[in-house]
Amino acid sequence: MSEDYRVAVVGATGQVGSLMLQLLREREFPVREVVPFASERSAGRDLERVGTVQALTEDTIQGFDLALFSAGGSTSGEWAPRFAQAGAVVVDNSSRWRMSDEVPLVVAEVNPEALARALQGASHGGIVANPNCSTMQMVVALKPIHDAAGIERLVISTYQAVSGTGKKAVDELLDQSHALLHDMEIAPPQVYPHQIAFNALPHAGSFAPGDDHTDEERKLIDETRKILGDPSIRVSATCVRVPVVNGHSEAVNVQTREPLSPEGARELLRAAPGITVADDPDAALYPLATLATGHDDVFVGRIRRDPGHERALDMWIVADNLRKGAATNAVQIAELLHAQGLIAPRGAPAAA
Ligand SMILES: NC(=O)c1ccc[n+]([C@@H]2O[C@H](COP(=O)([O-])OP(=O)(O)OC[C@H]3O[C@@H](n4cnc5c(N)ncnc54)[C@H](OP(=O)(O)O)[C@@H]3O)[C@@H](O)[C@H]2O)c1
Repeated sequence: MSEDYRVAVVGATGQVGSLMLQLLREREFPVREVVPFASERSAGRDLERVGTVQALTEDTIQGFDLALFSAGGSTSGEWAPRFAQAGAVVVDNSSRWRMSDEVPLVVAEVNPEALARALQGASHGGIVANPNCSTMQMVVALKPIHDAAGIERLVISTYQAVSGTGKKAVDELLDQSHALLHDMEIAPPQVYPHQIAFNALPHAGSFAPGDDHTDEERKLIDETRKILGDPSIRVSATCVRVPVVNGHSEAVNVQTREPLSPEGARELLRAAPGITVADDPDAALYPLATLATGHDDVFVGRIRRDPGHERALDMWIVADNLRKGAATNAVQIAELLHAQGLIAPRGAPAAA
């Protein structure tokens, strides 16, 4: 029996899926076979260095050790449990399973212990959820602060890139920008409710009937508490879509229970895994979407005392939403599952 795994990547033709395929290779995850899945539209297409795209059927999903999903909530709702039932551990990028009590919601640098709690001893598969991209990058930066000083309240404003909505949103921004720069009429928006080019939409995600917050704002509130394991943290969030192709930026006001100076916060963040502190405003050094793109770290800067509160700090947190916000963390979870003996190669029992 090979120690290497048979891995399904569902959503392999998408932005996150193709990056997960690349990262599995680059990070030398032990695979003996990777099978790409996408919608019926793409079935039969050849993906360079990977293989032929499969459609999801009861037959094609059999025999996997691990399945990495990035194909939207409804695909995950229908197919993630079927992969798990067939024996695979599923790492899911969609929001479908994140708030289920029995599903761990894991950020590699923050709560890796949640994996073992949920999956240890399971002889079958299971589902692990990858958090929302805005939440993911923020909690990496908040974890060391929460451990040292306790977080009481967060006030968050996001500046989210269009790649967070999918490939069609990137095309919409580029098409609109091209049209406007060439004095042409723009086509009616298909992805967003308004023109995104040269605009800022206080409407990232969607409004459920009767809710005055978007689902993206609710995710920031609920997922932050679940990942940090502290339902008492008060969170206020405004999520804004901006005409940036890639890289989410966030202005975060962090009110702590214990006093914490900006220099103390900088030291904590410098020592924490997965974080680059870029904080020298005099030299115009602070995190930028253009600098973060292509990197796996979360970048933090503009760390300063909130003049309005003696126990609050303001900071600016930026990351590549397709990498740390999605694909990198999914592959890091796969690495943790492997290291903790929580994936059973076909025919072999998982470590007890
Ligand atoms: N973009 C981000 O920053 C980010 C961050 C965190 C989480 N996520 C999540 O990751 C997922 C994908 O995001 P993305 O940006 O990669 O989107 P994308 O570029 O639009 O790709 C979507 C992928 O899903 C596949 N798909 C769509 N419908 C399907 C179906 N019925 N059955 C099987 N496959 C289907 C598509 O296949 P076809 O090519 O055949 O249509 C494609 O491979 C979403 O759940 C999103 O919420 C994204």
